[in-house]
Amino acid sequence: MKVLVVGPGAREHALVLALSRDPAVTYLTCAPGNAGTVEVAEVLPLDAMNPAAVASLARHYDLVVVGPEAPLVAGVADAVREVGVPVFGPSAAAAQLEGSKTFAKDVMAAAGVPTAASDSCTTADEAVQALGRRVAPYVVKADGLAAGKGVLVTSDRIDAENFARDALSTVGARVVIEDFLDGPEVSLFALTDGTTVVPLLPAQDHKRVGDDDTGPNTGGMGAYAPLPWLPSGTVEHVLTSVLQPVVAEMATRGTPFSGLLYAGLAMTSRGPQVVEFNCRFGDPETQVVLALLDTPLAGLLLACANGTLAAEPPLVWRPGAAVTVVVAAENYPGTPAAGDEVVVGDLPEGVTVLHAGTRLSEDGAVLTSGGRVLSVTATGSSLAEARTRAYEGVAAVHLRGGFSRSDIAAKAARGEISVPTQVEGA
Ligand code: GLY
Repeated sequence: MKVLVVGPGAREHALVLALSRDPAVTYLTCAPGNAGTVEVAEVLPLDAMNPAAVASLARHYDLVVVGPEAPLVAGVADAVREVGVPVFGPSAAAAQLEGSKTFAKDVMAAAGVPTAASDSCTTADEAVQALGRRVAPYVVKADGLAAGKGVLVTSDRIDAENFARDALSTVGARVVIEDFLDGPEVSLFALTDGTTVVPLLPAQDHKRVGDDDTGPNTGGMGAYAPLPWLPSGTVEHVLTSVLQPVVAEMATRGTPFSGLLYAGLAMTSRGPQVVEFNCRFGDPETQVVLALLDTPLAGLLLACANGTLAAEPPLVWRPGAAVTVVVAAENYPGTPAAGDEVVVGDLPEGVTVLHAGTRLSEDGAVLTSGGRVLSVTATGSSLAEARTRAYEGVAAVHLRGGFSRSDIAAKAARGEISVPTQVEGA
């Protein structure tokens, strides 16, 4: 099977690495890829945001996997389907689950899915009023794609109002103001062909830039899987109360969702509630989830594309745990430094360096070209072992001004995360 992975980041590097382990894959291309994907796949230049360009390249493949959300929202998967090539990724209409917070809230209301009460506001005055009806912490979400920077959670009402004003003038025509959901967050990915839904291992992301969840939100500074603190039965509960109803609702609307449905959840005292949906694999959670997946990946993704997921055998997972730690460029998530050389020394056993914002110079040096530069991913027999190895890997990375959080998976490894007691009848 010839597979094309579309996208430039660490998620795509993780995807090509997993696909390269699948004996059914005979040829693998990543476009546009980065300085790391070139080690496992052919790398071709491609404007991933151009549906016609992706469809033209897709004709040479048996399966196309679209990584990031922006091309999906722009209709890249539709263009590939139109030329008759199986594609893993939702249509533009279905990708609105991520592309519009208001749309996602509407689908959840119709499907009876638990989520925070919210107001969708089209003017700054409406947003100010919606904030006035709430208590801190305030949650403001831009209603459009904002590369991981479209959400503000703050106790400062003025900051919340200013964020809403900025979002209305720069991101989209609406902002969503919603109640704060307390409790630890979970990223649960599910494969779906539009009917059948197969959840993957739950993971947890660390979204704030600084240790102890301080500083601004980022695309994600690290992740781990599985979650030792998650009550047993949670994944099955989310499957029946969230994932299956949403997939069924999308089909009823005539816009079936196939590909990867990512539920961002808060484990609240009222049970799991949806914080957001994404229409693609998460980054950096994919790095840890795929590191633990033993089932060959290409057949699964093809089954999603072809509507045959129900015929696939149950997934097989490797024992143990995985941790990934992002190495970011100086000044991320502001305007990150670019063009610095990155050198990776000897890595300990069980550690893989996945590239994100990197490119090769003409003389073959690896240079930074984005905020999140590398995702140092390790597996181990326990979370503590995977964490130790991941940080040994980080120590082997040399990058001027580069930095990481030092506490990825730390609380989970120490057994310090707990889920609020479920309120009776909630
Ligand atoms: N890790 C957050 C995201 O992929 O959106």
